[in-house]
Amino acid sequence: MASRKLLLLAGDGIGPEAMAEVKKLIAMMNAEMAAGFETEEGLVGGCAYDAHGKAISEEDMAKAMAADAVLFGAVGGPKWDGVPYEVRPEAGLLRLRKDMELFANLRPAICYPALASSSSLKPEVVEGLDILIVRELTGGVYFGEPKEIIDLGNGQKRGIDTQVYDTFEIERIAGVAFELARTRQNKVCSMEKRNVMKSGVLWNEVVTQTHKAKYPDVELSHMLADAGGMQLVRWPKQFDVIVTDNLFGDMLSDVAAMLTGSLGMLPSASLGAPDPKTGSRKALYEPVHGSAPDIAGQGIANPIAMIASFAMCLRYSFNMVAEADRLEKAIADVLDSGLRTGDIMSPGATQVNTQQMGDAIVEKFRALA
Ligand code: NAI
Ligand code: MG
Repeated sequence: MASRKLLLLAGDGIGPEAMAEVKKLIAMMNAEMAAGFETEEGLVGGCAYDAHGKAISEEDMAKAMAADAVLFGAVGGPKWDGVPYEVRPEAGLLRLRKDMELFANLRPAICYPALASSSSLKPEVVEGLDILIVRELTGGVYFGEPKEIIDLGNGQKRGIDTQVYDTFEIERIAGVAFELARTRQNKVCSMEKRNVMKSGVLWNEVVTQTHKAKYPDVELSHMLADAGGMQLVRWPKQFDVIVTDNLFGDMLSDVAAMLTGSLGMLPSASLGAPDPKTGSRKALYEPVHGSAPDIAGQGIANPIAMIASFAMCLRYSFNMVAEADRLEKAIADVLDSGLRTGDIMSPGATQVNTQQMGDAIVEKFRALA
């Protein structure tokens, strides 16, 4: 069987604690399911800076470029607040995203039934929610030029950011959204602000053309991004896949994520372009949360975001769809059984630590096989 090369970059704070629970799953899948994962480990973030003065070494970058997928924990913490800007912990993640050309950021918002009553929205609005936000990650207003603050000389300054999108950038992110929709409920909603932005007019045009040319079987709708924000909070279950630009995606994915519970529950994937020869994509999987310095080292972090990121890795990098489904079911079942880490604790539930939550999920995953 083909080998499956994984690079594990656990990072700082709770990153290694959460990654340890994924390593249990990898070991179990290799031993009991002949999954054939070959893992390497590297340093990223503050721990890499401490070891060799850079947020990621060239050697570890080369490993990332050669891997089938990268699993990333979290980086940063107060210890490194004073380090120079170019080598700050986040620089490691930005370098990975840039060199691997990870232009598509996938952020699911899934509401596990056991947590529906702890949402800030009514349980019936969120229960069973399963939507996917596809955010363009390497273009738009965060990167467009000019980007500067100029002195107008009259006591005033002007801050300038520029929203820029080219046809190929919109085409490729729309392609990812349509392809993912085909594996789900076959529905895409594209969000922009074509009423006030030229880039929004182009976005709408290119998504429409891409749909017509290559994905006419998928149901496509368009929504202005501000209205989309309202609809996400009013009735999120109307959506399946949402595709949007870098800026709107940043905000809308945070809104969607919070419909469903704690930061400790939220996975993400970032995908690159398919290799023209093999069709395989570079990919990095990471929890949405950071290094949580306030609870690091105590063994109480919720490992579910990291484990759910691994489930996305099984699904999108290795086409192990049945295993991904089973792992997500194991997470849901363990929550149903009443186990909770501190961040998602509710009255009547049983509080467990990081390892106990990880062990329970491994056990359930095995039992569902
Ligand atoms: P954070 O996500 O690390 O923590 C925010 C709050 O949520 C904290 O109270 C934390 O204890 C809690 N939390 C987060 N993940 C949890 C988990 N798995 N289980 C239980 N509780 C959890 O964000 P914050 O505090 O803004 O940043 C802390 C550090 O992390 C900073 O240095 C920041 O730069 C870095 N960071 C790194 C990210 C990354 O590596 N991609 C993303 C966000 C922040
Ligand atoms: Mg954000």
